[in-house]
This record gives sequence, C-alpha cells and structure tokens, in this order.
Amino acid sequence: MRLLVLGATGGTGRAIIRQAGERGHEITAFVRSPQKLGSLIDRVTVRQGDPRSVADLQKVLPGHAAVLSVLGPPGPGPTTILRAAARSTVDAMEIAGPRRLIVVSAAVLFRDLGFLGGVLRHTLLKNVAEDSAEMEHIVMASRLDWTIVRPPRLTNGSLTSRYRAENGHLPGRSALASISRADVAHFLLGELEHGSHTHHVVGLTGGT
Ligand SMILES: NC(=O)c1ccc[n+]([C@@H]2O[C@H](COP(=O)([O-])OP(=O)(O)OC[C@H]3O[C@@H](n4cnc5c(N)ncnc54)[C@H](OP(=O)(O)O)[C@@H]3O)[C@@H](O)[C@H]2O)c1
Repeated sequence: MRLLVLGATGGTGRAIIRQAGERGHEITAFVRSPQKLGSLIDRVTVRQGDPRSVADLQKVLPGHAAVLSVLGPPGPGPTTILRAAARSTVDAMEIAGPRRLIVVSAAVLFRDLGFLGGVLRHTLLKNVAEDSAEMEHIVMASRLDWTIVRPPRLTNGSLTSRYRAENGHLPGRSALASISRADVAHFLLGELEHGSHTHHVVGLTGGT
C-alpha cells in the first residue's frame, strides 16, 4: 500500500518508515521540515506542507490507500495541533479520499486507569489530553473508516512485536504502562493491513 504519514519526522513516524519497506508498503512523508528525516529521506517520497491546511492535504492525498497520523505536540504546554490537523485531514479525505484513517491518541484518556490516571489527565498531561480528546471527537464524527490508537508512555525501546491491544480499554489498566514507538509502529502497520479495529478506540500496551 502507499501510505500518507503525518508526523513522519517524529519518533513513531520514523519507526513506521523503518518498518514499512520490509512489509511492502511505500510511504509518503508529509512533513514541514524534510531535513529532519535525515538518512530516512531516501526511503520515502517527501511532500512538504502544513497538516492544518485542507488545500495542502488535498494536493497530496490522491494515490494513497490510507492516512496514518502520528502527529504530536512538542511538549506539555497548550496545544491545538492535534484537533486542527484532524479537522483538515477529515475534511480533505472526505473530499479527495482515501477512506482509511488511523490516528495515534493517548491512553491517559481512558477513565479506568485509577487515581494516577486521573491525576495525570488533569495536571502534567492536561493540554495533550484535551487536544487528543478534541481530535478523537472529530475523527469519530467523520464518515471515514477510522481507528484511534491510544498508547501509554512511549519509549525508544526496540521492536519486540509483543504487545496487547484491547478495544475500549488499556490492557492492564495501568497509568504506569509503556510501549516502544517501534511496537506502536508495528501495530499501526498491522492494523492498516488487516483492519481488525475499524471504528474502535484501541488501547495498546507493551509486554505480553
Ligand atoms: N510521548 C509519549 O509518551 C506519548 C504517550 C502517549 C501518546 N503519545 C502520542 O503519540 C504520538 C506520537 O508520539 P511521538 O513521540 O512519536 O511524537 P514526536 O516524536 O513528538 O513527533 C511529533 C511529530 O508531530 C510533528 N508536529 C508537531 N507539531 C507540528 C506542527 N505544528 N505542524 C506540523 N507537524 C507538527 C513533528 O514534526 P517536526 O519534526 O517538524 O517537529 C513530528 O513529526 C503523538 O500523538 C503523541 O501525542 C505520546
């Protein structure tokens, strides 16, 4: 499949690029700063643009089987990038196709992660949680074939292919859980290939 990746210069985006080739997929990296791809630039088609721009997205969408968004805010401060990019992505896809959209959100939005989950949601991760929640509302209200993936804390650990996914919950229900960006990328590519979680919010955690 030819996939359009938003946030391709980020940690998870780079992991997707590393794994996509050996699974037979071609990646278009839709980025604002192509130089941040480093040596990975040789493995992708680069298109420069703003993920908040419907016009920029509409230009690049034709020819792609799916869109994968691993955009993320740069830090814990106030942010609107996730909701703004979700709005433009949904609008552009509903006009120009394709129908398949997978976005990465955050496990902290699960309400059953105990006291610590609630504390994180209302303090350190408040801004990211709010932006992620708005993004999810936009995606869920769309006419697209969407999947929302909610991982807990991301690490730069290696690919293990050992992780658990559950619709509507984070497996283990622990606010202290983690998963490597490589394993998230592995799950995302598998979900694109098999579509087992279409129209679901999926909790994804590392370990077996
Ligand atoms: N970090 C965690 O522990 C954690 C936990 C749960 C969920 N998540 C979610 O997982 C996802 C992936 O995380 P990650 O750590 O792989 O992300 P990351 O390394 O921070 O990468 C974020 C990507 O978003 C792009 N981006 C940010 N603001 C942008 C803007 N205004 N315009 C265009 N592009 C913009 C960045 O582009 P540039 O390279 O140009 O800046 C980069 O490609 C995010 O949605 C994050 O919220 C993270």
